[in-house]
Amino acid sequence: MNRLIKKKMIPWDQRAGDPLIPATGIAAGGTLFDPLANVMSKRMTRRGFLTATALTGATVLLASAKSGLLDLPYAEAAAQAGTVRFALIADSHTMGAKNPRMKSRLSAAVNEVNALIPRPDWVIYMGDAVHDGSEDQFKYFEEIMAGLQVKKVYYVPGEHDWYLDMGNYYMKNMVKGRLPWSFDDKGVHFVGLNGILYPDFWTVRKLSPQERMNIAGTLNHPMLGPFTLGREQLDWLEKDLSRFGNDAPVVIFTHPPLYHYYRPWNFWTEDAPEAHEILKRFKSVHVLHGHVHQTVQNRIDNIQVIGHVSTAWPHPYPPAYHTLGLTGQMPRSDPSKLYDGLGWARYELGEREVKHEDIVWTLRPPKV
Ligand SMILES: [Fe+2]
Ligand SMILES: [Fe+2]
Repeated sequence: MNRLIKKKMIPWDQRAGDPLIPATGIAAGGTLFDPLANVMSKRMTRRGFLTATALTGATVLLASAKSGLLDLPYAEAAAQAGTVRFALIADSHTMGAKNPRMKSRLSAAVNEVNALIPRPDWVIYMGDAVHDGSEDQFKYFEEIMAGLQVKKVYYVPGEHDWYLDMGNYYMKNMVKGRLPWSFDDKGVHFVGLNGILYPDFWTVRKLSPQERMNIAGTLNHPMLGPFTLGREQLDWLEKDLSRFGNDAPVVIFTHPPLYHYYRPWNFWTEDAPEAHEILKRFKSVHVLHGHVHQTVQNRIDNIQVIGHVSTAWPHPYPPAYHTLGLTGQMPRSDPSKLYDGLGWARYELGEREVKHEDIVWTLRPPKV
């Protein structure tokens, strides 16, 4: 059985590598981009969340070409009881048939997720599914996502999904009226938030829906206030978490960073400190986000925040990246390469260990 599974696995470590590009470092938290392994990877125990807070804020293990997740015996991992496996795809910005490159990239992520052994239990899609919020674009996106062979796909919205029709299509079709939402899986509490609420900049200016969308979709537009969760959603979060003890592991999904990363590009949630207040009693909190189109991590007290690459295009690191104590830069994306600077991620939350792997296509484009 194991032999069969291994034969079907994506041979990550057997791919013909492209010429190496200088590695980028994501040093705070002890996580490195590994040019040989082509992953951003770290491992930490659930207890490790707490330990990391108390000691160094650092994550625990690094991937290397010869160790780490690449060589993880997945069949063995599958035998572990109680492991939550999910894949994370972000920021596809699918534009319909006018931009088939976006389709190729999202399809590649879908195919790679399907090829994982064991297959993830579910997928979280982190927002900016489409670029202009139109129904046509959503239907195009949904056709590609229909290829995912997982039990469930969860969604949180990005600003590009929302501001053409103020979330009407999204609420009805992507989240079936439920936002924010939460669920439990094998002892972990997962929460999806609507993190892209802008103060109303359109009513007084009598903007058309398309004008509103165009402005909302421009990161540094001077008309935009910061993203907020809003009082109502913060109250919902507090109530949703109230039935859990401080030991409960909590994972939050929200499109923009749930902290003050870089305001000029709206890498920012204005009322993030209020959310942190609600979360501070928990020993183990992970906040996963998209929007920044880059791998970036930040630890704020008990909260490990992880940003992810997109399947559309990479953003450079903002100046604030260095004030986080991080070093290095992403390799400059080569626009002639369909998959450069892009990718997706997967997580395994076991009884004693939490694993996170970023599959970055920069060096080894997808082959499935
Ligand atoms: Fe995006
Ligand atoms: Fe976004």
